[in-house]
Amino acid sequence: MTKIQTIERFIFDQQPETAHGEFTNLLYDIALAAKLIAHKTNRAGLLDILGRAGDVNIQGEEQQKLDVFADEMIVHICDHTGRLCVMASEEREEIIHIPKKYKKGSYVLVFDPLDGSSNIDVNVSIGAVFGIYRCIDWNLRGRIEDVLQPARNLVAAGYVLFGSSTMMVYSTGNGVHGFTLDLELGEFLLSHPDMHLPEMPAYYSVNWAYYDQWSPGIQAYADWLQGRGGSDAPTMSARYIGSLVSDFHRNLLRGGVFFYPAEVSKPSGKIRLLYEAGPLAFLMEQAGGYASDGRQSILDIEPTELHQRTPFFIGNRTLVEKAEFFRQQD
Ligand code: AHG
Ligand code: MN
Ligand code: MN
Repeated sequence: MTKIQTIERFIFDQQPETAHGEFTNLLYDIALAAKLIAHKTNRAGLLDILGRAGDVNIQGEEQQKLDVFADEMIVHICDHTGRLCVMASEEREEIIHIPKKYKKGSYVLVFDPLDGSSNIDVNVSIGAVFGIYRCIDWNLRGRIEDVLQPARNLVAAGYVLFGSSTMMVYSTGNGVHGFTLDLELGEFLLSHPDMHLPEMPAYYSVNWAYYDQWSPGIQAYADWLQGRGGSDAPTMSARYIGSLVSDFHRNLLRGGVFFYPAEVSKPSGKIRLLYEAGPLAFLMEQAGGYASDGRQSILDIEPTELHQRTPFFIGNRTLVEKAEFFRQQD
């Protein structure tokens, strides 16, 4: 008897008896897109895919070729299956409608197709993030309202990490489970069942270059994390990759807090609510942690715009609540 469990088998086994398989198949589709993107990512240097595509995305950032590839791959795999009614990607200005020639399903997919793009050219790990909602109204499905839902409504969320190995980590609200891609088999195999945040946090993760841009409360929080001025913070070390998925994954395994607060020049910070903060907040709560914008749970924020950004604090609950405490002083 082997204990090897593929992602397909695991998803299938978790499917409720009453399910029609629509949702299960949607997760397979995402796993397939992840494999294809991983394949391209691993060959990036060889295939001369590195470098900028030249376009500037809706957020005013230059797109890299892999961003475009990953975005198109996900849409290509998911638009014709009859499982989705609408999609939204960090890389596209507007929601992505299902072409008229295909059937519309009941699910909604939001995604950041390539996270950490500034790290592509330097061969540092990157990722992708996704969230799945149900449409609000079956008869009207496919509208922007289906996309602008609070993360509390997510039925699933996950990420893919293109690191020293490729991993897919997801939750359907029943724990967080991690799978590692076996390159020879071409399958994601269950490697991290039921992931839980360690109680003792190991790391704080923030871009210290922006210290002078932070509010006094955030500066005091950062000082507290560093153990300055008689703080009672647990002893931690600092780690910051600059790829949110990688920073999140490391802190999920080791415990800690990642934060990207508001700055004088970026009043809402940088992290996107729909494609990054929301899905990761859902996963973090499933793993026993918490995510906040400094005032309230990320899961409770009602999005008003597709590309909305939010200040972001995520990790061990005590550390994130401490950030909320310091924010009250601002
Ligand atoms: P993306 O590549 O999808 O635009 O996301 C980049 C984000 C995120 O991955 C990371 O946490 C953050 O940018 C790093 O920003 P700084 O370089 O300002 O620290
Ligand atoms: Mn990103
Ligand atoms: Mn991105």
